[in-house]
Amino acid sequence: MATSDNGGRGVGRARAGANFALVKYWGKADAALNVPAVGSISITLDSLYTETTVELAPDLGVDELTLDGKRRAEDGAKLSACLDLLRRKAQVDTRARVTSRNNFPTAAGLASSASGCAALVRAAEAAFGLALTPRERSILARQGSGSAARSIFGGFVEMHAGVAPDGTDSFAEPLLDGAEWPLEVVIAVTAKGEKEIGSRSGMTRSATSSPYYAAWVAGQPPDLEAARAAIRARDFAALAEVAEHNCLKMHAAALAAQPPLVYWNGATVECLHAVRRLRAGGVPVFFTIDAGPQVKAVCAPGARGQVERTLHTVPGVLELMTSALGPGAELC
Ligand code: DP6
Repeated sequence: MATSDNGGRGVGRARAGANFALVKYWGKADAALNVPAVGSISITLDSLYTETTVELAPDLGVDELTLDGKRRAEDGAKLSACLDLLRRKAQVDTRARVTSRNNFPTAAGLASSASGCAALVRAAEAAFGLALTPRERSILARQGSGSAARSIFGGFVEMHAGVAPDGTDSFAEPLLDGAEWPLEVVIAVTAKGEKEIGSRSGMTRSATSSPYYAAWVAGQPPDLEAARAAIRARDFAALAEVAEHNCLKMHAAALAAQPPLVYWNGATVECLHAVRRLRAGGVPVFFTIDAGPQVKAVCAPGARGQVERTLHTVPGVLELMTSALGPGAELC
């Protein structure tokens, strides 16, 4: 809830987990409203998260962001655009001091924009004294970052691209509680530092120059249907098949862009093969890779130990991180 001190300042603090898409969002239908061209399905994680405090600051002329201990003037426009949406709803004009911390590397293909925007919306809602529905939160988070619409919810989540010109039907919804099918994720970190081409410019470049982009968009409805059915039936083999195929199709569209978008390094490819070998040998695991070189190995309950032992030995893997499925964005 919003709290006020004697200066009339509202403060909100929230935590949101990162999410990884199993059926991916890649491309926009409306850049201004940040409406995706395709729906997507994801899992929200519990041990990779962002914690954000929003404090209303009548003394400030512009919003101020401190991320992982550093002032980020370069992210000011994006931050203010998101806060403006909440200010409009609250009918206030007050600027905010925002302090945010990721407990994992920022902008390295580990979904920091998703958890960051979801935590920001949830914390700002409290600071501005609003009481939004989860759907409203998801719509606001989407305008900050498309994947963030999904981090509002926990477990298995579906994002609807929507058809309304104003984006009001472009939001995420929970599909299945994580406790109902407690998958785990092993993340193989194969490079550190911020990625060269972020998702936003990568997807624009794919949409405008890749000969495979139209085929990517056209193939999404059947993939969403297959993933939805697999999740409903807790059918790991079926989910593995559609998720890996969908991931490779996204990267195929990106690879064929001009200039090409090669998000992988050698270790990324080695991990992909290692995961496929494990599954061929009967270990229930599949990979997914986003706009960066890290490999996320999604494990059926009980498979995590074997997957960790194997990925640990892959040359070029710098570090492994693990996570269970987690809750949606919450005040903390
Ligand atoms: C490859 O949500 O970061 O991770 O809406 O422009 O902020 P913007 O893009 P973003 O893109 C995520 C792309 C992806 C796939 C996914 O998470 O679905």
